[in-house]
Amino acid sequence: MIDPFGRHISYLRVSVTDRCDFRCKYCMSENMTFLPKKDVLSLEELELVSAAFIRKGVRKIRITGGEPLVRKDIMTLFRNLGLYLQSGELDELTLTTNGSQLEKYAGDLFAAGVRRINVSLDTLNPYHFQDITRWGNFEKVMRGIEAARTAGLHVKINTVALKGFNDAELGDMVRWTGERGMDISFIETMPMGAVDGLRSDQYLPLSEVKQQLAQSWTLTPSAYRTGGPSDYFDVAETGMRVGFITPLTHNFCESCNRVRLTCTGMLYMCLGQEDSADLRAALRRDPSRAALDAAIDEAIGRKPKGHDFIIDRRHDDRPAVKRHMNVTGG
Ligand code: GTP
Ligand code: 5AD
Ligand code: SF4
Repeated sequence: MIDPFGRHISYLRVSVTDRCDFRCKYCMSENMTFLPKKDVLSLEELELVSAAFIRKGVRKIRITGGEPLVRKDIMTLFRNLGLYLQSGELDELTLTTNGSQLEKYAGDLFAAGVRRINVSLDTLNPYHFQDITRWGNFEKVMRGIEAARTAGLHVKINTVALKGFNDAELGDMVRWTGERGMDISFIETMPMGAVDGLRSDQYLPLSEVKQQLAQSWTLTPSAYRTGGPSDYFDVAETGMRVGFITPLTHNFCESCNRVRLTCTGMLYMCLGQEDSADLRAALRRDPSRAALDAAIDEAIGRKPKGHDFIIDRRHDDRPAVKRHMNVTGG
């Protein structure tokens, strides 16, 4: 699949639920309405759509949410998609999770063929963790991360950099992850959906963070590539890596290789645009799958050039896109 800007689409992100057992303040508002269950694709349908993308050249699938591991029977989807790893049709099956259910599922994920996972963790301070996630349990997440490492999964930590919240702690997080053999990516907060509070008060440009970290750590550009948006640096002191995901300060849309499927079967061609294609309608209309294949081709044919994210005071009451991050899983 090649889009109008000549980019090869080889990475599908599949959001399996919009629900989550946390309420991270930058991601959701306190009172969220979730989708009625009847609108959500069955696990079989999610697999059918994923298979269509694999036939069309997708080599990497990331399962996201909401929190993907709160979806009932989710291991069935992992096991079935894992078969495409065995047949060589897929290079990587992976997951972005808040870690709350990893104690339970780490072993099953490894058995399904998952090798590398991303766990969201914005602070090492249990009180701050409680504050930012509203509903999260820090100790449970710590146990989840340990369970994942014990099961043989490589864990990357994802940390949204937030001014006045974790800016003083980011160096400690580089040490903490480095000592445990984990990489870490810092992420700039993106203006998606209305949240309580102002994005411009929270927004911390990673260009500043990188400069600050470079005073304590020896950072050299890394050759490591995952096919994701993170730009990695080797940290000489820890032997691990720190990545920077900079949609605001350094746009990476030029090399975008991904599209995202929501749990209702909408395909979003860009995280930062409203346009989407209804694959559920195509899937349910025509069991021969020709309609689904055609709908995918048509959607890729209108993948936009990139996002228009802006964070400043003048734009604070107008998020770049109305939907929250939990709809597309990032
Ligand atoms: P790796 O494969 O480990 O490099 O993962 P990744 O960084 O691609 O994926 P992950 O799910 O960990 O996403 C980390 C952050 O990157 C999330 O906040 C996503 O919203 C963001 N992200 C992923 N893809 C895009 C994208 O195409 N555009 C923008 N603006 N952000 C993205
Ligand atoms: N901006 C940037 N990252 C976000 N995430 C959730 N909401 C936002 C936002 N508005 C992150 C989560 C998780 C990943 C999937 O997206 O922390 O790591
Ligand atoms: Fe849940 Fe992830 Fe959103 Fe936090 S960022 S509320 S863990 S979906």
